[in-house]
Amino acid sequence: MTVVCNQHSQTNSLRYLMKSKVYIETFGCQMNVADTERAATGLTKAGYEMTSSAATADVVLFNTCSVRERAERKVLRRIGEVRKLSSPTTHKRPLIGVMGCVAQLEGQSIFDKTPVVDLIVGTRATDRIPSLIERVQGGEAGLIDLDDRQEGEVWDVSPAERRSPYVAFVPIIEGCNKFCSFCIVPFSRGREKSRNAAEIVAEILRLRSLGYKEVHLIGQNVNSYRPRATEGVQHYPGATPFSRLLRAVANTGMERIKFTTSFPRDFHPDIVSALEEYPNLCDWVHLPAQSGSDRILKSMRRGHNSEDYLRRMEGIKKSKRRLSLTSDIIIGFPGETEEDFEATMRLVQQCEYDALYIFKYSKRAGTPAAKLDDAVPETEKTARFMALEALQTSIQEKIYNAYVGRVVSVLVERESARSKDDMAGHSTCHKVVNFRANQTQPGDIVDVMISRGNPNSLYGELVG
Ligand code: 5AD
Ligand code: SF4
Repeated sequence: MTVVCNQHSQTNSLRYLMKSKVYIETFGCQMNVADTERAATGLTKAGYEMTSSAATADVVLFNTCSVRERAERKVLRRIGEVRKLSSPTTHKRPLIGVMGCVAQLEGQSIFDKTPVVDLIVGTRATDRIPSLIERVQGGEAGLIDLDDRQEGEVWDVSPAERRSPYVAFVPIIEGCNKFCSFCIVPFSRGREKSRNAAEIVAEILRLRSLGYKEVHLIGQNVNSYRPRATEGVQHYPGATPFSRLLRAVANTGMERIKFTTSFPRDFHPDIVSALEEYPNLCDWVHLPAQSGSDRILKSMRRGHNSEDYLRRMEGIKKSKRRLSLTSDIIIGFPGETEEDFEATMRLVQQCEYDALYIFKYSKRAGTPAAKLDDAVPETEKTARFMALEALQTSIQEKIYNAYVGRVVSVLVERESARSKDDMAGHSTCHKVVNFRANQTQPGDIVDVMISRGNPNSLYGELVG
């Protein structure tokens, strides 16, 4: 649906003949980061110039997240700040657009709540942003595009618009069909749509030739990957389309391949087999449990219970390769009792995660869980959050200290935040590693002998 409210103010569009500068501020998940890169590619191709701050922009776009209420509130605050700025070309406030999940979900009501917004771009309208901006600059007001992607659109991201010259996000599946009762994503991002494998493989080969060292295959549920045709994976064995894709992608020779997020119910043991066959498939699995209580998991409509989850977790832990395991947990889902929470504590204890992302339940209008009574009081949520965090800290301390004396392979990404003499990067198992720089440059892959485990990072010395 494209809604245009035709209040053609004769804004003199001449002043826009100079190429406008566009700034995109990104909130939320890696999918939004990837969408921003795609939007920037299209804008640059259409002649716009990308800029890295709102203060130097003629057009400011907010790529928004609606997964929790806090992220939504942050955007409204930022819009308030940006409206006070002055565009270098027009000397008026910049043109303000809202894209991403909040745009898709709220559409017109954003204009009602925040009249300062000029343009609303849904999650599948990314490629149409240049022409939408042009129309607003030409005087159209109240422009909203919540339509689907058009047939034949391909995922095109220019290296110049990627966040990093060494690590690239490669979307393999968009949307979600799972409808977990707490989650807004199926509403904001629509149904699952897998990219063609041949296109993914070609993109990774191109990234490799450009010097990229690591790719992250991304999607709400990467292991639900199900393309329409087998083109691109036809020569690769595997029990599921995703494990065939993993083998096909590993064969590109890209040095490091990570993938996130995995959905527990679709986590086939063949994924672990693929990781065992190909060393360039990295030793890290992100498998969100959300809760350890069967009663709550049922109410969350996750499609797994704690026994299923633990069985899949065991398959990962028993691998010939030591695989790092991380997870997400929601605290204070409606009706969560002390007993339910204890079950979550037990599950976390059993899984010994390498990292855990803990979220307080946030009620999302329009989701089935929003209709449930029995909200957990905020004080109780905080107390449970802190108890789980303390448990995870103690587990992590043990895991991180066990790395002392081991050598890990690190992709050097930047100077360390703590010291100019140190560099920082990620291990293949996705831990932050700091080490004494000694001439290493971003983009190098180095071996580091770990000498110390910190709460959320490792410290070590270069080997050789
Ligand atoms: N409240 C709190 N956390 C949520 N998540 C998704 N929806 C909600 C919500 N309504 C968390 C889940 C998911 C992660 C990306 O965000 O843990 O795995
Ligand atoms: Fe949300 Fe569940 Fe889909 Fe993940 S699997 S995006 S939590 S609905």
